[in-house]
Amino acid sequence: MRNYSIPHRPRRNRKSASIREAIAETRLSISNLLYPMFLLDGQNMKEEISSMPGIYRQTEDHILNEVEHCMKLGIKLFALFPAVDDSLKDKTASYASAKGNFYCRSIRAIKDRFPEAIIMTDVAMDPYSSDGHDGFVENGKILNDETLPILARMALAQAEAGADILGPSDMMDGRVGFLRDAMDENGFTDVSIMSYTAKYASGFYGPFRDALSSAPKFGDKKTYQMDYRNVKEALLEAQLDEDEGADMLMVKPALAYLDVISALSLQSRLPIAAYQVSGEYAMIKAAAAKGWLDEKKMVHETLSSIHRAGASIILSYFAKQYAENPLF
Ligand code: PBG
Repeated sequence: MRNYSIPHRPRRNRKSASIREAIAETRLSISNLLYPMFLLDGQNMKEEISSMPGIYRQTEDHILNEVEHCMKLGIKLFALFPAVDDSLKDKTASYASAKGNFYCRSIRAIKDRFPEAIIMTDVAMDPYSSDGHDGFVENGKILNDETLPILARMALAQAEAGADILGPSDMMDGRVGFLRDAMDENGFTDVSIMSYTAKYASGFYGPFRDALSSAPKFGDKKTYQMDYRNVKEALLEAQLDEDEGADMLMVKPALAYLDVISALSLQSRLPIAAYQVSGEYAMIKAAAAKGWLDEKKMVHETLSSIHRAGASIILSYFAKQYAENPLF
């Protein structure tokens, strides 16, 4: 072989684990993770969601144990989603702001027992709506401005229960400013808003809708959730949410939208969050169950990539599993 000079050999910086560790550009920490959980009314019930092995719909007593376990592992951030009985659903999602509803009762119970846990709520009508849509429906249309006061009533009930962060996941226009005003007028200036800024109309939400029986009763969500062919539109949504007073911006789903996470983190001075959604979880679990993928590696790789793209907070159903057995 001819004597050949290669002055730049990037492989030198990969030659040992010690060097790779020293120069790693991103490092996923358990404190970046937010664990979403599904809440049931009642006592001592725990049902596994068939398309999300390892994830349960469970009652407050089980949720309290879960929070305690997670806090010990270093997870401090939680999101709660209610599985509401069909008999309580109506057109105006009235149960969402009903006095003493089980969702608000459980937020209070968690905050009383674990004051340092951060509880993020879901602000959208779908878990409580007989139409299964995130907004108020009239003549087959999802009405924007009529939805805002309903969201504000729901958010106020959550804030009164002790919620730390509101998570408007509904994609109505103007809702961040509307919620900010409602909070400030009622003395909740410390309640934060993590806006679902760029929430796409996605095929990846299927298992979540199974978990809450919240699939739309007609049509789809394309008149309010974003078109997955667009990224400029996400920058517009980000600008609006910032102007309206959001504290953090979220992109959802995560893995198919790393460019959106990256674009938002370059444009905005606010912290960026990303939601590795139910379908992303189900895909990895299913392939791992078949022995086609190494689950632990896939969890670390996907979470690290979402972090690398620019998300400081990652909502993931893998949060607990990862914290129990991290791969550094
Ligand atoms: C609805 C909501 C959805 C998710 C969070 N909030 C589903 C939807 O828009 O239909 C999905 C989360 C997931 O798939 O894990 N407000």
